[in-house]
Order: sequence, then C-alpha cells, then structure tokens
Amino acid sequence: MLRNSLTRVLQIRYPIIQGGLAYVANGRLAAAVSSAGGLGQVGAAGRTPEAFREQIHVAKSLTDKPFGVNIPVSRHTDNSPYIQVALEEAANIVSVSLSAGDPRPFVPGLKAAGLKVLLVVATVRQARRAQEAGADILICEGFEAGGHDSPLENTVFTLVPQVAEIAEVPVVAAGGVASGRQIAAAFMLGAQGVQMGTRFVATVECEAHERYKDLLVQAGDDGTVVLERTLGVSTRVLKNDYVAAALDVERADPSGLKLRPLMTGERNRLAAIEGRTDEGYLYAGQSVGLISSVVPAGQAIEQIVEETRAALGHSSEYGAWL
Ligand SMILES: Cc1cc2nc3c(=O)[nH]c(=O)nc-3n(C[C@H](O)[C@H](O)[C@H](O)COP(=O)(O)O)c2cc1C
Repeated sequence: MLRNSLTRVLQIRYPIIQGGLAYVANGRLAAAVSSAGGLGQVGAAGRTPEAFREQIHVAKSLTDKPFGVNIPVSRHTDNSPYIQVALEEAANIVSVSLSAGDPRPFVPGLKAAGLKVLLVVATVRQARRAQEAGADILICEGFEAGGHDSPLENTVFTLVPQVAEIAEVPVVAAGGVASGRQIAAAFMLGAQGVQMGTRFVATVECEAHERYKDLLVQAGDDGTVVLERTLGVSTRVLKNDYVAAALDVERADPSGLKLRPLMTGERNRLAAIEGRTDEGYLYAGQSVGLISSVVPAGQAIEQIVEETRAALGHSSEYGAWL
C-alpha cells in the first residue's frame, strides 16, 4: 500500500487509475483493476445508458472494492442519461471521471451524491477551472495519451509540474505511462499517481478484440500517430492502413469535412471489438512501446508496483510502501 492524498481520497491501495476506454472499459476490467488495488473505471463511451448500467453491475458483482465510471461529456450528445445512471448506482462507485467537454454543470449533483469527481485537464487554465468547479482530483492528460488529446499538445513532463504548482487537490499524470519508473517520475513531477489506458487494453479482462491486443504488443515506440488536428483535436491511434488513408484524406482536405465520416465511433468499434482491424482505427498511447505482453490486469499492476518500489528505493519519502 502507498498512502498518499490520492489513495486516501479514492480509498485505494495503489495510486494507479485505469482510464476510461471508449468501447473497451468493461465491468470485468474495472473489477480486476480495483481488486488488484487500483481504481478501475467502467466507461460510458460507446455504450447506451442501459449497457453502461449493465457493466457497472458486472463490476459490482466481481469486486467489493471501490471503482469509478468515466463519462466523456460532449456538447454533441445528451450526457444526462449517463450521469443519471452514475447517480442511481452511486452506492458502490467512488468516482466519476468527466472528460472531453464542459463538465461543470454536472459536478454539484455528483458531489452532492457523495461521489468523488475526477476532471481530465490538458492545460493549466483548464486545471484552474476544474478546481474552481469542485474537482476532487485533477487528471493531467498529456499529448502522449491514447485517444483524444488536447490540440495544445502539452506533454505530461511539462503539464504535470505546472498544474502541481496551482493544485489544491491530488494530481494524476495520464499519458504514456506503462512502467514503474514512470510512476516514480510522475511523483517527482508533483503528481500523486498515474492514470493508464493503453496498458489496460492489453489485459486478459479487457473486452478489446484479441487482434487489437496483439497489435498493441507488437507496436514499438513509433507505433502511434496523431490525426484529426483539422477537426480541432489530436487523436492518437495505432498506425495501420486505414489510418494512413485517413491521414491522406486529412492532408488533402484541411477543412476536415472529408475526414469526419472516416472517424466515426462505429469505425472504432469495428476494429476494437470485432477485430476488423483494417477497417477502422484503434486508440493507443505512446506507452505502447513499453507493453510486451497481454497479462491479467492484476499482474500488470503487481509488476508496475514492484518496478515503482525499485525505482524509488526504500528510503524515499515517496517510498512509504506498506
Ligand atoms: C482505447 C482508448 C480509449 C479511450 N477512451 C477514453 C474515454 O472514453 N474517455 C476518456 O476520458 N479517456 C479515454 N481515453 C484516454 C484514457 O482514459 C487515458 O487517459 C489515456 O489512455 C492515458 O494514456 P495511455 O494510453 O498512454 O496510458 C482512451 C484511451 C484509449 C487508449
């Protein structure tokens, strides 16, 4: 156990959070992460509210440990049914992590229900606003991360220490992390823990298709690429032929209009869930180069915790491992 402000707020053993993972953050994965001492999260993205609730029930049936949910707030969709599910299921859920759009309207209701609110930020300005809105934890997501990143492209190495300067609540580093020495580094940067996404996709419990997991294992440090900048976001995905063609379209049409139909959620689902990996895109972070096998989530956490202990040594003030 490592006691610090993050583990205390979330009532977890290790300062490791499994990020929301569109389509593939299933209840079994969340339960496995939480049972191993981290914070698992059931993802709303890619699910109907009913399917979201079902996966929360799966997680509840598999662990008595706290877990969270992730709801990427978007101004293009009605987020309230997902918020409602989180509120109705609140008893066993410790956190609600809101990402993407403006989460502020939802924060007071969630906090009033006793939930901890984790807000994903990519700039110091967003961090200030998130704090003002009542965030219990700031997830600092860098450009290294898999999925949708901020167009400003701040990296964890620069973002975390700047947010740590102004933070009055625990800070979490997200993006590119898949090893213990990076957790140790995150502590040095001023974070109290990490959030990992890609590492947890390549686990036995994750419902991602086996082909997706294999591609993550095979990919090296040059395995990802960013697209959708023309649409005002940075989306980090695995390189494949589908993505190469989409990038050609994006280069030829800087308005982004021709790219948009190629980047639908359905194209992600086909590749990630059905394993038709040449017919869509697969989110992955730069951490992919550090992932060499598909293992149970608990094993991944144990290994990373051991690596963190080794990196920190036993005398460090961060090394109060019990
Ligand atoms: C497959 C995948 C799907 C993701 N979907 C979401 C999502 O629905 N909501 C969200 O807040 N973040 C999402 N993210 C970002 C992760 O929660 C996390 O912050 C990120 O993966 C950290 O970087 P890493 O992949 O290098 O570990 C996704 C990331 C991946 C890899």
